[in-house]
Amino acid sequence: MKLILDLDTGIDDALALAYAISAHERGEAELLAVTGTYGNVDVEQGVANSRALLELLGHPEIPVIPGPQKPGFEVLEISSFIHGSNGVGNVALPAAPEQTITTDAVDFLIEAYRTHGADLTIIPTGPSTTIAAAMREAPELADAPVVFMGGALTVPGNVTPLAEANVIQDPAATDFLLRTGTNVSMVGLDVTTRTVLTKKHTAQWRGTLVGDIYADMFDYYIDAYAQSEPELGGCGLHDPLAVATALTPSLIDWLPINMMCTHEGRTTGDPARFHTEVTSRAAVGVDIDRFVDDLMARMAELFGKSSADL
Ligand code: BDR
Ligand code: CA
Repeated sequence: MKLILDLDTGIDDALALAYAISAHERGEAELLAVTGTYGNVDVEQGVANSRALLELLGHPEIPVIPGPQKPGFEVLEISSFIHGSNGVGNVALPAAPEQTITTDAVDFLIEAYRTHGADLTIIPTGPSTTIAAAMREAPELADAPVVFMGGALTVPGNVTPLAEANVIQDPAATDFLLRTGTNVSMVGLDVTTRTVLTKKHTAQWRGTLVGDIYADMFDYYIDAYAQSEPELGGCGLHDPLAVATALTPSLIDWLPINMMCTHEGRTTGDPARFHTEVTSRAAVGVDIDRFVDDLMARMAELFGKSSADL
């Protein structure tokens, strides 16, 4: 299985990346590339964060390819509160070497799907702008397996009562993805707010350079969640759960349903397609302990090993 992560890096995006690197090192999947989108930060900052994290995780060879940014984009106040002004909890990451990239994210996704077909899973963990643009440009991409973090079907949004943060940035793109894709899995707040980390977890990461940096980022994120959504009892593991789900779909209880996204960013069933073939599914339940235990085991392995290499 091949993976491409489309990240707006972002603290939980950073952990999604670490999870994908763990799978890459274990030989469970090959992380072909990261594409960079906007959301928690702008594209430039998100790409810089992904580059720095890949360096830290010992994989500077994995390319980070910038994608389009919506004109007029500004970081939401809630996003900079949750992720810090640099997207990674105001933690200073080690600099990464320059990389020469001669393509853009939309073209890269199209070429990758033409090469790998259904063996490739695309995992957007920011707005749907890039994947929607790729599907518009190359209609065959509609059949690509896409597992995206975003939306909320059975719970309220986290930016407005209806809208989740990734979806509110580009509701039209999410609507296009949901209506056009033939193999789309939505991993939304329905499940990602049930899987949480606390400082008891992050304390276990400490003791190596990479472990300390991830713990510092996540302690910032946990403190922010304690103010914004104290009822969760920790921070939501949104983006890592999307990656885990792509690798292990049995972590999730799936509801097959054709969905749409309204202008206000509400993801919901599409009444116009109640009687047509179902092309998407929404995550509505998750095996919390299995996921969190697996995540912690992977990070113990990854952070320990990476530190030995530094
Ligand atoms: C999503 O929004 C961003 O803040 C996170 O990185 C995650 O992708 C959660 O609503
Ligand atoms: Ca994200």
